[in-house]
Amino acid sequence: MAESDPPLYYDAHIFVCCNRRPDGHRRGSCAASGSEALRNYMKSKAKEMGLGRVRVNSAECLDRCEFGPAMVIYPEGVWYRAETNEDIDEILQAHLRDGGRVERLMLTEAHIPPGKA
Ligand code: FES
Repeated sequence: MAESDPPLYYDAHIFVCCNRRPDGHRRGSCAASGSEALRNYMKSKAKEMGLGRVRVNSAECLDRCEFGPAMVIYPEGVWYRAETNEDIDEILQAHLRDGGRVERLMLTEAHIPPGKA
């Protein structure tokens, strides 16, 4: 951050890919893997947990389709693949509430889509 930047507007901003491609597309899509329901759950659960300045938004394709349902949390820029509501609970509790990480669900530098390296 530059010194002149204003303070962060959100403590955490989560982008959940909700892109949907036709069935059978070679890259698949996060919506076809259930991301819309996961986004809705995450939004309401974050509110229920009282996570104040946390924003959960839908995103178009984040270009890590093969590893979806994909989401990324800023300002850290940490990516996750979540498949269940329990995964979302773990991310909200460990990452957003406690400032830790859920390593088993993280996408790393090793998660590069075919042809993108
Ligand atoms: S469809 Fe979700 S990252 Fe591309």
